[in-house]
Amino acid sequence: MAARPAIRPPTDDALKEAACLLSHGALVAVPTETVYGLAARAADPEAVAKLFAAKGRPAKNPLIVHTADAATAFALIEETPAAQALADLWPGPLTLVGTRRAGANIALAASAGGRTLAVRVPAGGVMRALCAAVGPLVAPSANRSGRVSATTADAVAQEFSAGVALILDGGPSEIGVESTVVSITGAPALLRPGAIDGETLTARAGPLAPAPTGGPLLSPGRLASHYAPEAAVRLDVRPEGVRPGEAYIAFGPADGARATQIAQLSATQDLGEAAHNLYAALRTCDTPGVAAIAVAPIPARGLGHALRDRLQRAAEPRDEADAP
Ligand code: TXA
Ligand code: MG
Repeated sequence: MAARPAIRPPTDDALKEAACLLSHGALVAVPTETVYGLAARAADPEAVAKLFAAKGRPAKNPLIVHTADAATAFALIEETPAAQALADLWPGPLTLVGTRRAGANIALAASAGGRTLAVRVPAGGVMRALCAAVGPLVAPSANRSGRVSATTADAVAQEFSAGVALILDGGPSEIGVESTVVSITGAPALLRPGAIDGETLTARAGPLAPAPTGGPLLSPGRLASHYAPEAAVRLDVRPEGVRPGEAYIAFGPADGARATQIAQLSATQDLGEAAHNLYAALRTCDTPGVAAIAVAPIPARGLGHALRDRLQRAAEPRDEADAP
């Protein structure tokens, strides 16, 4: 069996090692405020190809380019008034999909052959420090394609037995769900609900169009089955509705749940705490032999939209032939 990748806290020495590895085309897992990312130097086509292979990610699914600051991001995509208004939220958990500039020195595979590019200036200081040292970094969530995202260094190590040179351990990701993705190539449109909620976006850019459905694949993270554990997932289950052999992900009271095990998202029904705990809860409950993972109802407000989006995709039937 291949050795597990080395895990190191992000000391100055470890950051230097990570920067050196990235410069030489290796893959490094990096903590961000949302989830852990698997980073590669964005200007290096071979490193980007290695990243797609390590994740088992389809070539049609483009990557987010992370940069140290907004000026670097807008050197890569065209700057629109809406983009400027939204970029006020940087550094932070927001990704803007814009029209790729002709001169952008970013591997074409990051755009999956399209004319757009996704950029984000993360709040996570480790990722920004590496971008400042190495240049823009592509970093999808550090999980095998279609599977549950990783919010701890250990979870990353469980995902990848080979192909990752180093995992920087920044502790559990503060937010716990991925960035909000907004297209700014035309009228701003929400492509993925995320850590920044709709009200915050609307306050800056006005009402956003909902994610377009049907037609060409605009944001493949919106493929049906995604964020999926091995076990089947059943949604909107109250404690008394848990079936024999099921694990339960609770949001508040769990009395009466006859589950094989219970993972609590937030005893006080705090959506921020629930987001922070979501992926760890899915991983904890995903044990061999579990009949299914039943999940409590999550309210459709604020961060709840992002949680419901991820859980709905985790619950989709898996079509292996079409798996992302
Ligand atoms: O919080 C995050 O965004 C994390 C951290 C590591 O930064 N990254 C992340 O990356 O979630 P990933 O690859 O797991 O999800 C990126 C999403 C996918 O749904 C992808 O299809 C979409 O962004 N995306 C990337 N580039 C795009 C583009 N040019 N047009 C439309 N969607 C794009
Ligand atoms: Mg992902």
